[in-house]
Amino acid sequence: MQLTLTTCAVRSWRASDAESLTRHANNRKIWLNLRDLFPHPYGIRDARAYLQMVLGKTPETGFAIDVNGEAVGGIGVVLKPDVERVSAEIGYWLGESFWGRGIVTDALSATTRHIVAAHHLTRVYAVPFAHNIASCRVLEKAGYVLEGRLRKSAIKDGTIVDQMQYAFIVSESAEVANSLSSAISSARPPTGIQR
Ligand SMILES: CC(C)(COP(=O)(O)OP(=O)(O)OC[C@H]1O[C@@H](n2cnc3c(N)ncnc32)[C@H](O)[C@@H]1OP(=O)(O)O)[C@@H](O)C(=O)NCCC(=O)NCCS
Repeated sequence: MQLTLTTCAVRSWRASDAESLTRHANNRKIWLNLRDLFPHPYGIRDARAYLQMVLGKTPETGFAIDVNGEAVGGIGVVLKPDVERVSAEIGYWLGESFWGRGIVTDALSATTRHIVAAHHLTRVYAVPFAHNIASCRVLEKAGYVLEGRLRKSAIKDGTIVDQMQYAFIVSESAEVANSLSSAISSARPPTGIQR
């Protein structure tokens, strides 16, 4: 997968990304805004284990954010199962030295459209911590709409925090809905799962 954008590219991970992944991911400021599944400190073994996992996965749901040929961040989705198979949760991070250049706004807009088309989705959502103003802003710039505040719904670094739920609804995005309406209406339930 390769999406070539104005400020960056979003592409498939490569085994050779392990060192740049470690260098950019090993940052407490990044970890503080992500789920605890994302390790800290982030070492080369964590990077190799992640790459091994992501490279062996079909369909491909995790991607590198690439600037000048270097993987400087990540963006990925969790495809929801069963009756929620028209939904996916998206998450992302970027190396601190690249913050504030519009990179994740670009990456999020393009990746949202890519996964909507690839998986016949009607909805993509994200749940940043309420204090993560930059992430909330990025979501708004990429066409996501605030649905609610999930009060005291998470614990991070020993503190109970609120989360904000944002969603991108395909049918409310005229540009995306027009290009995808036929793909969405042809989505069929997988074998063995009843609605
Ligand atoms: C959040 C993050 C992904 C943003 O990426 P980025 O490429 O720097 O974002 P962009 O440059 O596209 O946009 C950032 C926006 O937030 C705004 N912003 C940043 N910090 C802000 C603050 N403290 N208060 C208000 N606005 C802020 C910027 O001004 C910009 O908005 P603008 O274009 O209207 O000026 C990046 O900082 C990051 O990886 N943080 C750590 C991990 C993380 O938070 N991941 C998301 C988990 S939900």
